[in-house]
Amino acid sequence: MDCTNMKFQLQSGRLMPLIGFGTYLITGDQLIYQVLDQALASGYRHIDTATVYHNESSIGRALKTLLPKHKLKREDIFITSKLAPIDQGEKAFSAVQESLRNLDCGYLDLYLIHWPGAGRVPVDSEENRKLRSQSWASLAKAVNAGLVKDIGVSNYTVKHLNELLANDCGVKPSVNQVEWHPKYYQTDLLNLCRREGILLQAYSSLGGTGNSNLLKDPVVSQISTLLGKSPAQVLLRWALQQNICIIPKARSAEHIKANIDLNFVIPNEMMTQLNNLNSNEKFAWNPEVVA
Ligand SMILES: NC(=O)c1ccc[n+]([C@@H]2O[C@H](COP(=O)([O-])OP(=O)(O)OC[C@H]3O[C@@H](n4cnc5c(N)ncnc54)[C@H](OP(=O)(O)O)[C@@H]3O)[C@@H](O)[C@H]2O)c1
Repeated sequence: MDCTNMKFQLQSGRLMPLIGFGTYLITGDQLIYQVLDQALASGYRHIDTATVYHNESSIGRALKTLLPKHKLKREDIFITSKLAPIDQGEKAFSAVQESLRNLDCGYLDLYLIHWPGAGRVPVDSEENRKLRSQSWASLAKAVNAGLVKDIGVSNYTVKHLNELLANDCGVKPSVNQVEWHPKYYQTDLLNLCRREGILLQAYSSLGGTGNSNLLKDPVVSQISTLLGKSPAQVLLRWALQQNICIIPKARSAEHIKANIDLNFVIPNEMMTQLNNLNSNEKFAWNPEVVA
């Protein structure tokens, strides 16, 4: 199957493309237009943004021109945004409305609680638990009001997810978006998500934007040479081959095209070699510290 068309059925019954386009640190009307034009031309139909990326309005403006240009309708693309930690609590409902105004796209396909903690609340405070529970109830209201089709979470550990499932669950999360690559993945979290029908979505699949050496890892490089694929393609295919959603971010046209060109198979023994790289090496923020 052409992996560009791989989809996962969310809690609402709606389908989400397993390959999305990440937009963290991509801002400004001109750059957003340029990368989304390339992304849509390359076949991406899923865009990941967040309130704290400060690019929702640019994305909204770009899509007004780009959808007709690429002969697409609103319903042909999947748009995710996320709740800023500072908006945790009952403010979450108006935060969805604000994201929707910025993106100006009628409805959001998915809205995530970006982080289990709340802005300006100490990470170890019990207040975090109370506020994220209120956020979840507010997001469920946003679903009922037709503002958003599915809701989910991001950076939830097994503890945060179990707590949500036990206490707050009129509506189950559709997605948990977490840091996930061969040097950092958590099988217990994946198993919990799969048991509950929650899609695990990987971020920083390429090691993020900092100074990670993931793309230069010798095992990744060796497999990339043997398969005739780039290290980035190997890392993305590693996740996709396990039915994990990916949202690689790229600015260069060459990278944008390559990151969705994943119709190859990593043989089992190479998957094992990649799995064996797991060393708890994180490149992004650590949610384990949030009460
Ligand atoms: N929920 C969360 O807390 C959270 C946290 C982090 C990220 N995210 C989401 O996940 C998305 C992806 O994660 P990320 O932004 O951390 O980074 P990433 O996708 O791991 O890596 C992006 C970096 O890799 C480079 N790159 C992209 N394609 C490449 C290729 N084919 N070959 C070589 N280098 C390549 C990019 O360079 P160029 O730009 O120069 O092409 C960029 O510097 C974000 O954009 C965001 O939407 C969510």
